[in-house]
Amino acid sequence: MRKRITKAIFPVAGLGTRFLPATKSIPKEILTLVDRPLIQYAIDEARAAGIKEFIFVTSRGKSALEDYFDSAPELEKALRRRKKRDLLEILKQTDMDSGAIAYVRQKEPLGLGHAVWCARRLIGEEPFAVVLPDDVIASDRPCLGEMIEAHAGIGGCMLATMLVDREKVPNYGILDVAEEKGALVRARGIVEKPSIEAAPSRHAVIGRYILTPSVLRSLGRIRRGAGGEVQLTDAIQQEIARGQPVHGFRFEGQRYDCGSKAGYLQATVAFALSRPELRDEFAGFLHEILAMPHAAE
Ligand code: G1P
Repeated sequence: MRKRITKAIFPVAGLGTRFLPATKSIPKEILTLVDRPLIQYAIDEARAAGIKEFIFVTSRGKSALEDYFDSAPELEKALRRRKKRDLLEILKQTDMDSGAIAYVRQKEPLGLGHAVWCARRLIGEEPFAVVLPDDVIASDRPCLGEMIEAHAGIGGCMLATMLVDREKVPNYGILDVAEEKGALVRARGIVEKPSIEAAPSRHAVIGRYILTPSVLRSLGRIRRGAGGEVQLTDAIQQEIARGQPVHGFRFEGQRYDCGSKAGYLQATVAFALSRPELRDEFAGFLHEILAMPHAAE
């Protein structure tokens, strides 16, 4: 029987330069959509998928992330004194079992592949997930859970994918497609951030992966690739070259690229509109401001 997937790596070491100056002192994973930080959405999706061990690959300046998932005795005491049961309930979202989160440091920003490799000693000989908190996916059926289910039948590596416009392919890992069957896209190749002309398809990898331990071994050997960084994509390409199955999983739902300002703002609007207590007032405001000739100038 295939081993259950219970471990997930969250690469959170990035500098977040696209959100400077805010990210000078706040990790970008703590930026909020309405009132919940990006990392909370990622953790919730992983928890719903049955993940039990959460491995954060961090760097200097990310201590706010560790505090976020720690208990806050003074705050809790104050809320209890004021009988704020609803707020205490909200705080429970951040409650993680002792020992469920492990932190490893990436000493130098050498790329996503290197960040994942930094967690190798905590993974061992079992398949594992990688979740990029920048990619927020709103869906009735959480993406990672759906992937784990689909993976149980075929094994190998599985990557969340979606079709992107041709001019966007240079921003992503792109699949060379051998076969499409329902939600599954079998890859015969994968290339990191190709030019528009060189891209083998428009099937782009989004930040959810199920990987095998041999990917970690490849990451220890491969040279730096696109952008001078150790690319996860290149290690996955090696799996394909060794004849191992690699599939894209065309997930359902709306994905927001919260690593970009435009995507982050779109997610903020969408999540605000999905909240019953905000929806009417916020929708009214959007109508009004869009009707103004020089909105927010
Ligand atoms: C990373 C991966 C890329 C993937 C993307 C998804 O790129 O290297 O293959 O398509 O995440 O968000 P980054 O966005 O970190 O440049």
